[in-house]
Amino acid sequence: MPMVTESAQTKLTETPLEPIGPLDTKVVQCLPKMTEGCHVPVFMDIQQTFVPAEIVSIRENNGVSEFYIHYVNFNRRLDEWVTVDKMNLKELAPPSTTTSSSSTNNISQEMPITPQPRTVPPPTTTTTASTSSETPSGNTTTFFLSDDADALNSDLSRAATLPSMTNPLPATSTTTVPTKTRGNGNNHHSGVHSVTKVKNINLIHLGRYFIKPWYFSPYPEEFTTCPVVYICEFCLKYCKDVDALKRHRTKCTLIHPPGNEIYRHGSTSFFEIDGRKNKSYAHNMCLLAKLFLDHKTLYYDTDPFMFYILTEFDAQGFHIVGYFSKDKESSEDYNLSCILTLPPYQKKGYGHFMIEFSYTLSRLEGKIGTPEKPLSDLGLLSYRRYWSEAILQTLLKHKPKDGETDYPSLSINDLSEITAIKKEDVLAALQNLNIIRYQQGSYVLSITKDLFDSYQDKRRLRVETKSLFWTPKIPTKPSNQFQTK
Ligand code: ACO
Ligand code: ZN
Repeated sequence: MPMVTESAQTKLTETPLEPIGPLDTKVVQCLPKMTEGCHVPVFMDIQQTFVPAEIVSIRENNGVSEFYIHYVNFNRRLDEWVTVDKMNLKELAPPSTTTSSSSTNNISQEMPITPQPRTVPPPTTTTTASTSSETPSGNTTTFFLSDDADALNSDLSRAATLPSMTNPLPATSTTTVPTKTRGNGNNHHSGVHSVTKVKNINLIHLGRYFIKPWYFSPYPEEFTTCPVVYICEFCLKYCKDVDALKRHRTKCTLIHPPGNEIYRHGSTSFFEIDGRKNKSYAHNMCLLAKLFLDHKTLYYDTDPFMFYILTEFDAQGFHIVGYFSKDKESSEDYNLSCILTLPPYQKKGYGHFMIEFSYTLSRLEGKIGTPEKPLSDLGLLSYRRYWSEAILQTLLKHKPKDGETDYPSLSINDLSEITAIKKEDVLAALQNLNIIRYQQGSYVLSITKDLFDSYQDKRRLRVETKSLFWTPKIPTKPSNQFQTK
């Protein structure tokens, strides 16, 4: 714990505004006690300035105090451990009695990552991001493809040739079921808030990449001290070191996610996994996803969900790029529960592609869909972009034919049915684009050519329905030990 004991901020007239370096003991003794919940400006590297921050946790590392801080109004993926020399201690303030900034991310309001019985009602508006004032910029993910990673990867992978899709890959049942030592998986939220606010995994190795996690994920305690957690990219089993992973790969014969390949176009595939039949994979997927999802709570009950794993094929196999999960049954029209593009693949159009895929499945089911709320900041940006594109491209197809001047009339309901996007989301997107006006008793859309042009279909990745081999299933009943006979 820090040596700071006394509260006497006013005496600190000489504290410089730059990172202050080793602390003068006299100064230290004048400071308020530095505890969790204290507020202090911290020098933020990506902003190159001091930013208001809250101390979330404190630890000793080789006799040096380290502070886990949350930059107020920034996404929690930017939270980090800093030493006192990065702080402007002149403005150190004790914990406020009102709700602290980071607890505005109220854990009790978070939605489960694979929600089982919904105990928390989702917000009613369709445009609510869970982290309202946060900026998506300054994404802290660092991933790097090192020579080591490449060598390791080729060591661990088996040579693969693209198997024929006419014979879909067999469903593989993994046998190990994760222990339930932490109950139903959301125990980590019961009263231990600061623990779940602190990133607990340093680095993961997955396939060709080392990836720095963004958030806490409830991996077993013993993995939190590993410099790197090695994850099998095909079954997602996690190992404490590279030797353990190598041993695992001698037994694990997968070169693709378990489950059925339901889509293939070029090197891009989707595998469908039933959370009831492949519990181990589904649990591992949730643990991995939680490293990059802040606003979701992790439950161990994956039975009510299907998982759609997006992969890219090469000579080593089908490499996971991202996934989305989907309720087998949803009374709220949810067609997507959680979505993740792994950081090395982000901002390349995969998120948009998965969202389009989720609406394609809805269309095949004859349903209108919406993502589960709340959305993350990046989730909201991606959905807004998708909705806007889908709607404007639909409108483009409905432009007057040559020689005609009148636009065919199209209602919000029509747009919703054509795109499979829920009416509320259609409206939210139109409002966000600022193209909807109330005029003489009815709603009209006024769209400039520039706007149309900026939403032209230029995407590399689009869902090719002819490459999709999927029929809607009648939902399977989740296994439930408390089921009544
Ligand atoms: N900054 C600004 N805009 C962005 C960013 C960003 N970092 N990321 C995505 N967008 C917007 C852009 O408008 C982009 O459109 P463009 O391609 O025309 O530029 C659009 O979103 C789609 O971008 P993609 O490249 O298709 O999306 P990506 O593959 O990066 O995946 C996702 C988006 C899934 C949200 C990813 O950022 C992610 O996994 N984040 C962490 C997990 C998360 O927050 N998931 C959503 C939770 S909500 C829920 O699960 C229902
Ligand atoms: Zn494996």
